[in-house]
Amino acid sequence: MTRHVLILGGTEEAYALAEALAGRGGLRVVTSLAGRTASPRRPAGDFRVGGFGGPGGMAAWLRAEDVAALVDATHPFAEAISAEARAAAGLAGVPLLRLERPAWEAGPGDDWREAADPGEALALLDGLGARRVLAVIGRREVGALAGAPGIAFLLRSVEPPEALPPNVRWVQGRGPFAVAGEAALLQAERINALFCRASGGAGGRAKLDAARDLGLPVVMLRRPAAGMAPSVGTVDAALAWLARAGSSGTMPRR
Ligand SMILES: NC(=O)c1ccc[n+]([C@@H]2O[C@H](COP(=O)([O-])OP(=O)(O)OC[C@H]3O[C@@H](n4cnc5c(N)ncnc54)[C@H](OP(=O)(O)O)[C@@H]3O)[C@@H](O)[C@H]2O)c1
Repeated sequence: MTRHVLILGGTEEAYALAEALAGRGGLRVVTSLAGRTASPRRPAGDFRVGGFGGPGGMAAWLRAEDVAALVDATHPFAEAISAEARAAAGLAGVPLLRLERPAWEAGPGDDWREAADPGEALALLDGLGARRVLAVIGRREVGALAGAPGIAFLLRSVEPPEALPPNVRWVQGRGPFAVAGEAALLQAERINALFCRASGGAGGRAKLDAARDLGLPVVMLRRPAAGMAPSVGTVDAALAWLARAGSSGTMPRR
C-alpha cells in the first residue's frame, strides 16, 4: 500500500522536500515541473514535466494517480499554478498544503521601497534618479521595462527572455549567489539601483545585502495575495503537516 504525494515544484523548497521524503517506505513522491528551463535539476524521487491543462486536468491527474496529498511548493510569484492547485485539490478532494518561503525582512541600512506592479516600480526608480538598474524579475515583467526608456536595465535570469526591449541588456545567472559576487557585478556595471521581486530565499538575499553595502536603493515588487489554503514556510513544517495528515487519515493509505 503506497501513499502518493505530489509536489508542485521548481523551487529550492520543493527540491528539499522531495529529498526529505524520497526513499521513505510506503510513500511515492512525484515532483511536477513546469518545463520552463531547458535542463532542469532532477528532483529526488519521481518527476513529471509540463502543464496539466488547467484545474480540471490537474484534478483528473490527482484522481488517476491516487494522490493522497498535494504540496504546492511553487514560486511565490507563480500565481496561476497556485490557483490551479487550490481548485484541483477541491475538485479531487485531496488535502492541499502551500509551502512558501518567508519573505525577506529589511534590516538596518536597507533602503527598500515596495511596488504593487511594474508601472509603480518604474515610477519609483525614475523618482530615485536611477539610470543604470539591475533587474532580477520574472519573464512576465520584462516587457514593462520598455516603459522607462531613460533607464538602462541589466536583466539577470536563468534563461534568456524571448524578446528584449531596446533599453535592456541580458546576463545569465543561476543562484544561489554570494554577496561578494553580487557587489562585484553591481560595481562593474555601475548600477545605481536594484529592481526585484519579494521572492525571499537565502540565495536571492545576497543581491540585497550587496546593495545595502554599496548604499543602493531597492525597488521590490510585492507578492501576490496568498490564497485560502493551509500554509507553512519551511520544509520541516511541511513534513510535520504530511505526518499529521498521514496519521489522522486525511491522507489515506490506499
Ligand atoms: N515565477 C517565477 O519567477 C519562478 C521562479 C522560480 C521557479 N519558478 C517555477 O517555474 C514554474 C513556472 O512558473 P510560472 O510563474 O510560469 O507559473 P504560473 O504562471 O503560475 O503557471 C502557468 C502555467 O504553467 C503550468 N505550471 C506552472 N508550474 C507548474 C508545475 N510546477 N507543474 C506543472 N505545470 C506547471 C500550469 O499550466 P497548466 O494550466 O497547463 O497546468 C500553469 O497554469 C513554477 O513551477 C514555479 O515554481 C517560477
